[in-house]
Amino acid sequence: MSFEEMWAALLPVGRDEATGGYHRFAWTPPELECRAWFLDEARRRDLDVEHDPNGNMIAWWLPEDGSRGDAVLTGSHLDSVPGGGAFDGPLGIVSAFAAVDLLRERGAGPRRPIGIAAFAEEEGARFGVACLGSRLLAGAIDPARARGLTDADGHTFAEVMHNAGFDPEAIGPDDDLLGRVGCLVELHVEQGRALREPVGVASAIVPHGRWRFDFAGEGNHAGTTRLPDRRDPMLPFAAMVIAAREAAERNGTVATVGKVRVVPGGVNAIASSVTGWLDARGPEDKAVRRTVAEIDEAARVAARPHRVSVDLAEESYSEIVDFNHALRDRIGATLGGVPVLPTGAGHDAGVLSARLPTAMLFVRNPTGVSHAPAEYAEPADCLAGVEALTAVLDELACS
Ligand code: GLV
Ligand code: MN
Ligand code: MN
Ligand code: MN
Repeated sequence: MSFEEMWAALLPVGRDEATGGYHRFAWTPPELECRAWFLDEARRRDLDVEHDPNGNMIAWWLPEDGSRGDAVLTGSHLDSVPGGGAFDGPLGIVSAFAAVDLLRERGAGPRRPIGIAAFAEEEGARFGVACLGSRLLAGAIDPARARGLTDADGHTFAEVMHNAGFDPEAIGPDDDLLGRVGCLVELHVEQGRALREPVGVASAIVPHGRWRFDFAGEGNHAGTTRLPDRRDPMLPFAAMVIAAREAAERNGTVATVGKVRVVPGGVNAIASSVTGWLDARGPEDKAVRRTVAEIDEAARVAARPHRVSVDLAEESYSEIVDFNHALRDRIGATLGGVPVLPTGAGHDAGVLSARLPTAMLFVRNPTGVSHAPAEYAEPADCLAGVEALTAVLDELACS
C-alpha cells in the first residue's frame, strides 16, 4: 500500500459527510476501525505488533539479529478531536509505514529496532485528559485516577478498557517497554501558520493545560421565575468566557472555552448547572497560571450576586517541553537547514520527553487551521515529510 492508498483507506473512517470533520474517539467504532487498519498495515509489512497495557500499539521492524533494545520509535495517534481534521495524528502513522517501505525499497535494514506507535486517546476527546495513553506509559498520571475518568455517557476508562480486552488493573508505566526505546521522532502536521517550508523540526511545546469550571445554581421555570429570584449559572459562565479572552490579552497567553455542558439544557428552563472547560496555553508557566487565576477570580465575582457556586478543577497540565537538543541537531543536520519552530499544540512526543530523548518533524499546513475540517497538507508536502522521516530513520536506525 502506497502513501496515497493508505491515506485513501483512512479518509472515510469517522468522517461526518455534512461538515467534513472527523469523530474518532478512543475505542468507539471509527477509532476501532482505524486500529484494525493499523494492524492490517503492520501485518502486510510483516511487522510484529506489541500491545502495551495502556492501549498503545507498536508495530516493530526488528533488526536481523532480533535485538529489541535501543529502539527508534516513530508514529503518532489515530484518535481525533470532535469534528477534527484528517491529518492530526494519522499523518504521522501513515508517513511512518511509508518510510519503512522506502527504506526497504532502498535496501536499508535496521540495526536498531524501528517501532511505529499508535498512541491511545491523544486528544483526550473521550476521557478529558490529553495524551492519556502516553501519560500512562510514562507514569505521568496516576493509574487509579485514569481508571475513574468518565466519558460523556458516564462510562469509566476502566470499563472501556475492560471491554476492549485490557486489564484495567494493569494500566500504568511500562518501564520494560520504555527501557527498550532509545528515542522517539513523531511526525505531525503543523497546526498553525508558523511553517513556511514543506518540513520543519520542533524546538518546544509551550506550557498548556485544561481546567473545568462547574457553576451550580437552581433549575427553574423560564417564564414564571422573577429575575431577583433566579440563581442562573449561565450568567457567571458567560462572564468567565469573556474573562478568558481578557485575561489572555493581558498575559500574552491564549485561553479558550470550546466545550460547555448545560444541565438540563431546556430552552424554557433556567439551567441548574453549567460546566465549562477552559484550555489555556502560553509561552511560560507563570503567565498561564496567572491567566487561569484571573479567570477564576472573575468567575467568582460574577457568580456572587446570582448566588451561584463555582468550583475549579485542573484536569491536566503540561509544563514546557524543550525537545532534546542533540537529537534535534542531528535531525537538522540530516535534513539540512530546515526551519526549527515551537508549537502551541500538545503531543505524545512532549509527554514522553520526560522519559526519553524525543523530537518532532512538522509538515506545512497551508490553511493554518487545525482541530477543524480545514486542516490540510499538500500531497507534495506529505511526500516531503515521508522523505524527511525516511532520512531520519535511516540516519538513526539504519546507518
Ligand atoms: C492536542 O492536539 C492539543 O494540543 O490539544
Ligand atoms: Mn490534536
Ligand atoms: Mn495530534
Ligand atoms: Mn495533540
